[in-house]
Amino acid sequence: MSDTSIEKLAVIGAGNMGSGIAQKMATEGFDVTLVDLDDEKVQRGLEIIRTTLAEGVERKIFRPEQVEAIQSRIRGTADWSDLADVDLVVEAVFEDLDVKRNVFERLEQVCRPDAILATNTSSFLVSDLGDTAKHPERVLGLHYFYHPAKNRLVEVVPGKQTSEAATRAAWTVQELIGKTPIASADASGFVVNRFFVPWLNEAVRLLEEGVADIATIEWAAQKTFGVGMGPFELMNVTGVPIALHAATTLGEHFGPLYAPSDRLAEQVASGDPWPLDGEADEAKLQTVADRMLGVVFYVATALVDEGVSSIEDTDIGARVGLRWPKGPFELINRLGTAAALDLVKGVTARWELAVPKLLAEQATSGEPFHFELVRRTTRDGIATLTINRPDAMNALNEAVVGQLHEAFKAAAADDAVSGIVIAGAGKGFIAGADIRFFVRNLDAGDLDRIQSFTVDGHELLHDLSHCDKPVVARLHGLALGGGLELALACDRIVATPKAVVAFPETGIGIYPGLGGTQRTPRRVGTGLAKWLIYTGQMLPAEQALQIGLVDAVVPYERLDATIADMIATGIEDRQRGETPEPWQPLEELFDDHAVESLRSGGVEVDDEKLAKAAKKVRFKAPLALRIAEKLIDASARTELDAGLRMELDHLHEIFSTEDAYEGLSSLGRRRPEFKGR
Ligand SMILES: NC(=O)c1ccc[n+]([C@@H]2O[C@H](COP(=O)([O-])OP(=O)(O)OC[C@H]3O[C@@H](n4cnc5c(N)ncnc54)[C@H](O)[C@@H]3O)[C@@H](O)[C@H]2O)c1
Repeated sequence: MSDTSIEKLAVIGAGNMGSGIAQKMATEGFDVTLVDLDDEKVQRGLEIIRTTLAEGVERKIFRPEQVEAIQSRIRGTADWSDLADVDLVVEAVFEDLDVKRNVFERLEQVCRPDAILATNTSSFLVSDLGDTAKHPERVLGLHYFYHPAKNRLVEVVPGKQTSEAATRAAWTVQELIGKTPIASADASGFVVNRFFVPWLNEAVRLLEEGVADIATIEWAAQKTFGVGMGPFELMNVTGVPIALHAATTLGEHFGPLYAPSDRLAEQVASGDPWPLDGEADEAKLQTVADRMLGVVFYVATALVDEGVSSIEDTDIGARVGLRWPKGPFELINRLGTAAALDLVKGVTARWELAVPKLLAEQATSGEPFHFELVRRTTRDGIATLTINRPDAMNALNEAVVGQLHEAFKAAAADDAVSGIVIAGAGKGFIAGADIRFFVRNLDAGDLDRIQSFTVDGHELLHDLSHCDKPVVARLHGLALGGGLELALACDRIVATPKAVVAFPETGIGIYPGLGGTQRTPRRVGTGLAKWLIYTGQMLPAEQALQIGLVDAVVPYERLDATIADMIATGIEDRQRGETPEPWQPLEELFDDHAVESLRSGGVEVDDEKLAKAAKKVRFKAPLALRIAEKLIDASARTELDAGLRMELDHLHEIFSTEDAYEGLSSLGRRRPEFKGR
């Protein structure tokens, strides 16, 4: 099976997990067959989906017609012969090994021999199922988290015999359905539950030992890990028996540290939820924090030591799956590796375990853990550099720009590399620059740091555009602001129909400062560049193609092959063509009117669409608009390098404005109020 030809999906088991998984697949445009034991159970599953989607409509996440389309893509059935032509099946039946083995046996009978068969098991190993399969190379784990239509995390777990092609294909499908996949070895608890369950269990142990009461532990855990719910409340919500079951399984594999405390078993036997009331004793914060951090640090570093996960994926797992603001390794870095090691030594001494080598060595080095934010893969002479911050939509910060630049230079200098592709992990390309970085430095009054970050970005983009080898931006999902500017510095931009590009900057008080005001007019002319930059208009890939902002739009399954063909045939300098007729009125409107008159509403336009475009300008930051106008106008008269320097020259000025602070700090919270200063 090629890794990109997956179209038909199926889910077995229409319970809590299966119905949610099917819902998410259909929401992202796939046809899904949802199977359960009989029609009644199938209907119950479909009803769960209907209810969840109806809530989505109430909360304005979906429009009613979207819900209808989603539901029309899900076909519920109890007839297994309907699975004959599916490409990937996810099993989500009862957590019972015999039941699951039986399901896999039946799947092997009805599915094509190359269909991928995945299990959503929480407590068994993939090899428990793969070892008895006729075609173990296509069996793997896809471990989703509750609620699977809402929680983005999925652990992709190849078994010992799973083929690389099947793993890659399953991974790609997860990205296509909007999930954030992380890789896990086939080990009990996979990645996240391996440290999350001990986190719950340690909380109960603290209670059992009389170190603190529930209210204190809840409060201290919330404070230490920055979470909304502490361990006891979480257990109440997700089921105390589930925590006991998970700890029992982990204990069987990894020994007494992981085994459930007696107090947890007693609580399950009582049938009651944990009582949460009471006042927290704030004096006990440190004691509770140290114990819980120690356990998490031990498990996280042990599982990376064992090769179950990577540092990056462990932290992504915590942030995306558990919604911790920081993952275990970021928490270790915050505390310092030497202090973290001391806490871990408390754990290893008590349970007679070895100190994970990874942590011991890191503490000796005195350096914090390093996160690899750019992954390089090289296939058939093409080096793909993938920015790997999927939960931050691959936003550009100092570390990303630095690592991308290093990786790019290495690929450019590598004789075995014939072309370079820049890509983003997960659902989007790059959501722009990391806004929090700007706000932090504005708060600290450190404009020089913003300036030097931008200069570094310019240098990276300069190298992208001056490379001897073809450089292609691989766009899927959002490419906003700095992300679009980075793509524009590449020789070609190849997008999928789901790609969307935009310059949101003037709506947050600044202007595109990484070449957007210079490379955009050179590609699409000044009129359309002004339209894009003054309005922040979100432009779907097909429309971006019409005006020449992207170079090709192809279905996801042809994305990599198209890029490889382009690189193989060689890339000529791009010639700008005429603006297509339907776009000319828009171009003229923005070319013919100064930004000031568009902003003040002084331009009379009959056409409704044009009037709407002109109106959008009124809500943007006046100073940012004025500088953008000046820079775009200059682009017609200057060489590119001179234009880029001008863009940098205004950086201090724009970031010193009140509007920049207002725009950047209000993002995602409220509509900014610009004052023009
Ligand atoms: N609930 C969670 O938070 C969670 C999280 C991750 C993984 N999981 C795993 O997902 C799986 C499903 O869990 P759930 O909570 O959705 O369970 P559930 O009991 O809600 O649903 C299981 C469904 O499978 C159906 N089923 C049972 N045997 C079947 C068969 N032979 N053929 C077809 N359908 C069959 C049942 O009728 C039921 O509708 C389990 O393996 C569980 O460990 C659960």
